[in-house]
Amino acid sequence: MKVNIPPIKSQGIKTKLVPWIASIVPSDFEGLWIEPFMGTGVVAFNIAPKNALLCDTNPHLINFYAAIASGEITSEIVRHYLTIEGVKLLKKGEAHYYEIRDRFNKEHQPLDFLFLNRAGFNGMIRFNKKGGFNIPFCRKPQRFAPAYITKIVNQVEHTVKLLKVKPFNFKCQSYENTIRTGNNNDIIYCDPPYVDRHVDYYNGWDENHEQTLYDELCVTKSKFILSTWHHNDYRENKYINSIWKRFNILTREHFYHVGGHEKNRNPMIEAIITNYDISLNEHQKPKKRKQLMLLETKHST
Ligand SMILES: C[S@@+](CC[C@H](N)C(=O)[O-])C[C@H]1O[C@@H](n2cnc3c(N)ncnc32)[C@H](O)[C@@H]1O
Repeated sequence: MKVNIPPIKSQGIKTKLVPWIASIVPSDFEGLWIEPFMGTGVVAFNIAPKNALLCDTNPHLINFYAAIASGEITSEIVRHYLTIEGVKLLKKGEAHYYEIRDRFNKEHQPLDFLFLNRAGFNGMIRFNKKGGFNIPFCRKPQRFAPAYITKIVNQVEHTVKLLKVKPFNFKCQSYENTIRTGNNNDIIYCDPPYVDRHVDYYNGWDENHEQTLYDELCVTKSKFILSTWHHNDYRENKYINSIWKRFNILTREHFYHVGGHEKNRNPMIEAIITNYDISLNEHQKPKKRKQLMLLETKHST
């Protein structure tokens, strides 16, 4: 499966897990694809269901994609904007990055959010206690070279084309409300922050949040797919055994890069938890089912 990268990136982006997630979506799925934790949108944009409700508490992610969906942001507008700001960045260096960061923190313009996301350190998204974007400059004043602008423009164009034909709805709201909208034929894909990790203004997540998520998913009429971590070399995700154990748990190894050096590759066992048994999915085509068996190890906890 060719996975398209969306125009916005983040440290929690699930690009590498998309084929796995796609492989457990029933092939006859026709309902609403619901994401309470949309993030960069990479999962929904690649699954490309008929219809989707994509939500997040970070308004900047929602505003960016809502602006693409409404036609306020087009690939031509992005090219024009990045070309102009890229020239200024080359001339003024990091002072220009921080000027845009200050402007974004006052005016919250989606194009400035894209600029910061692509010129900030490691493509990270992080907000301070007051909700201000606080990622430092990537220290590359030549960041917006023509080839890089074209790459981003193509990513925007892909999203523009998708959102022209798919009536996807973007909403800034907390996960409880989003999950409650799910009906019988829908699938809720949940990718919540991990407890005690990456904590920032929009990403606080603790045991109570995890418990509420469980309570909501226990009573939903929809199918759900939940992404989380199972264990790494040092720790286990204790919520797998304490909270999630009554559901189906699938695991798979994934490598996280910490600090950008190959030698710092840390294997992490990812988990996918579902409230439906994918091995009993009659609608799965035989070939797809075979691929699934190769891809996944059913974890018995
Ligand atoms: C791990 S990221 C999702 C990543 C996404 N699947 C992707 O591949 O880009 C978690 C997301 O949850 C959002 N979030 C945090 N707390 C939330 C809450 N209470 N309700 C809804 N969204 C929340 C964050 O803003 C963040 O975008």
